[in-house]
Amino acid sequence: MTLHTSSTLVVPEVSAIPRHVAIIMDGNGRWASKRLMPRVAGHSEGLGAVKKIVEECRRIGVEYLTVFAFSSENWRRPPEEVGFLMKLFLKSLKGEVSRLAENDISLRLIGDLSRFDSAIQDMVRFSEEKTAGCKSLTFTIAANYGGRWDILQAMRRCLDANPGLISEQVTEELLQPYLSMAYAPEPDLFIRTGGEQRVSNFLLWQLAYTELYFTDVLWPDFDEAQLHKAFKWFGQRERRFGRTSAQLASLAMSDAV
Ligand code: IPE
Ligand code: IPE
Ligand code: MG
Repeated sequence: MTLHTSSTLVVPEVSAIPRHVAIIMDGNGRWASKRLMPRVAGHSEGLGAVKKIVEECRRIGVEYLTVFAFSSENWRRPPEEVGFLMKLFLKSLKGEVSRLAENDISLRLIGDLSRFDSAIQDMVRFSEEKTAGCKSLTFTIAANYGGRWDILQAMRRCLDANPGLISEQVTEELLQPYLSMAYAPEPDLFIRTGGEQRVSNFLLWQLAYTELYFTDVLWPDFDEAQLHKAFKWFGQRERRFGRTSAQLASLAMSDAV
């Protein structure tokens, strides 16, 4: 597995098209309520938006797309809604895995899967294996995921793998391979739909230098045009990673000669 460098240790290379896009798909319930439909109808509709965005990301050359489907705190929702989401998750995995493989898209799941029933766990394993060799896009679904859980599970696994570790030996490089997204570079662009401006325990570690884009558009209405709007905004950011604008300008000058 390639180890990706940390944005706090080495200044990453930047590109016009984000290599890694991470999305909090929010606003499904409100989309449905506005139409006097049950909240869960918004989740079904949201699935259509996921398909569009996956395909568009692959088409334009995004390498990694990560979406937040179910947070470790979403178990607090009414049991009927949680049950519906679980069924929808299983159904969509079953329905989409062949298409993902045909389109050369590899599927990964991050999160604590042990809380899901065995049918889901089996389907996740099958889908990951079936798409493992696909190269055009890595599509990650975060399910029963929490950023704090991620850091803690990484720390626990790191300690288990390195018995007798002393505190001075704990470094970013040592911990990084145990984080659940160790296979991907850190996200360049974060998108949250649905109007809230918060991170809601998504990729806390990995978002250290990610550009954060918020839109009021509700997830089921988020389409290719909305994605390009976010990319345009991203293209206008100056990614300094702690440096000054003058330093970036002089680097650009020296690259030009
Ligand atoms: C996001 O939409 C989907 C999940 C959290 C599963 P919401 O269900 O949070 O929709 P709102 O925020 O209530 O409108
Ligand atoms: C975040 O949305 C989680 C997902 C989109 C899966 P929530 O709707 O659960 O977030 P909060 O509760 O408004 O912060
Ligand atoms: Mg919400």
